[in-house]
Amino acid sequence: MKYAHIVGWGSYRPDKILTNSDLARMVDTSDEWIFTRTGIRERRIASERETTATLAFEAAARALVVADIHPSQVDLIIVATSTPEYIFPSTACLVQDYLGATRAGAFDLSAACSGFVYGLSLAAQSIQSGAVHNAVVIGAETMSRVLDWEDRGTCILFGDGAGAVVLKGSSVPGGVMASTLRSDGSGGDMLSLPAVYHNPMPMLGPEYLHNGHKKNTVEMNGRQVFRFATQVVADSVEETVLKAGLTMDDVALIVPHQANVRIIETAAKRLRVPVERFYMNVDSMGNTSAASIPIALCDAVGDGRLRPDDNVVFVGFGGGLTWAASVVKWDVTPPQVSFIDHEWKRVRYVMARGRSRLRRLSRRVEAAVARSSNGHEGDDE
Ligand code: COA
Repeated sequence: MKYAHIVGWGSYRPDKILTNSDLARMVDTSDEWIFTRTGIRERRIASERETTATLAFEAAARALVVADIHPSQVDLIIVATSTPEYIFPSTACLVQDYLGATRAGAFDLSAACSGFVYGLSLAAQSIQSGAVHNAVVIGAETMSRVLDWEDRGTCILFGDGAGAVVLKGSSVPGGVMASTLRSDGSGGDMLSLPAVYHNPMPMLGPEYLHNGHKKNTVEMNGRQVFRFATQVVADSVEETVLKAGLTMDDVALIVPHQANVRIIETAAKRLRVPVERFYMNVDSMGNTSAASIPIALCDAVGDGRLRPDDNVVFVGFGGGLTWAASVVKWDVTPPQVSFIDHEWKRVRYVMARGRSRLRRLSRRVEAAVARSSNGHEGDDE
C-alpha cells in the first residue's frame, strides 16, 4: 500500500502591493466597504516581467528545496490555474522547463479556485496507484490580468501569487487520506471568465456581449456565489472528514480557499467549529484563486499552526461551479536547509534554463540545416 505525503511546500508573492485605498482612487469604493464586506486590506499584483509560469516556478522551486528533491526526480507537475498565458504550451510545461524536471509529465488543471485541491487529489491518487513517486502540485494565478478594473464588484477581490506542494510516495501510513471533488455546471454563469472571443457561454445568452460586458474579464454574481460557498464549504468538509474516518474534533486546522472572511465565518458556524480553527490570510493576499490554499498553507506552517501528526483539511470552491476538500495528515518535519545549500539549489535552475536554451538553439540549427539541404535537393531536380 502506498501513501502520498506532503514533503515540501513553497509560495511566492509579487512585491507590488495594491491597498484598498489605492483601489478607492481607481473606482467608487472605500477601504471601510471592502474590509467590512470581505476582510481584505491589500493584495499583490504581478509586475510586467512576471507571468503565471514565473510565479509558479518560484513557488515550486522553494517547495522542492524544502522537500530536498532534485527536479530530475519529479514524475508529475500539475499547475492549477485560470490565468495561463497560453492554452498550449501549458503553464505546467513552462514550469517543467524552468525547473529542468526532465522526467516529468506536466499539465494544467482548470477548476478555478478549487483547482489546487483537485490537483492534490489527482496527484495523490497517481502516487497511491504506484504510477508516479514524486509529484509537484502548484496553484498559480495572475488574476490582475483578467479583471475589469472599472468593475468595483470584482476588481476589489482578487490578487496574484503562487503556492506549491511536493508529494512523495511512502509505505508509511498518512499523507492525503481522503478527498471529495464536486461540480455543478448549471451554476457556471454565477462566476465566469470567457476565454474565446466568439464563443460566450450559451447559458449567458446573446445579450451578454451587448450589455457592455468586457469580454475576457471575470464576471460574477457576488450574492449567489456567497450563498453557494457557505453551503459547500461546510458540506464538503464534513463529508471528507467522515470519509477519512475522523470527526471534526480530530481536525487541528482547516485551510479554506481565501475568498472572504464572512464566507469562512458563516461556514465555521454551520460546522459548529470555532472560527480560530480556520487559517486566514485573505487580509493581506485577497483572493488568489487556485493559489490561495497553498499560499495560506505555507503561511500557516510559517506561523507554527501545524504540528507533526495534525490533521489538516483543505477546502476550495469557485467557478464551474466546483468545490473540493482533502484531509491530510501533516506528518513531515522538513530538513534544515543551510543558506549555502539553498543558494546551490537555485544555481541548478540557472543551469536548467541554460540547457533549455541550448536545446532550443540546437532545434533551430537542425531546422535550418534541414531547410538548406532540402533547398539543395530542389536545386538538383
Ligand atoms: N464598493 C462600494 N460599494 C460597492 C462595491 C464596492 N467595491 N461593490 C458593490 N457595491 C455596492 C453595490 O452597488 C450595492 O449598492 P446598492 O445597494 O446601492 O445597489 C451595495 O454595495 C451592495 O451590493 P451587494 O453586491 O449586495 O454587496 P454584498 O454585501 O453582497 O457584498 C461581495 C458584495 C462581492 C463582497 C459579496 O457578495 C461576496 O463576497 N460574494 C462572494 C464573492 C466571492 O468570494 N467570489 C469568489 C468566489 S471564488
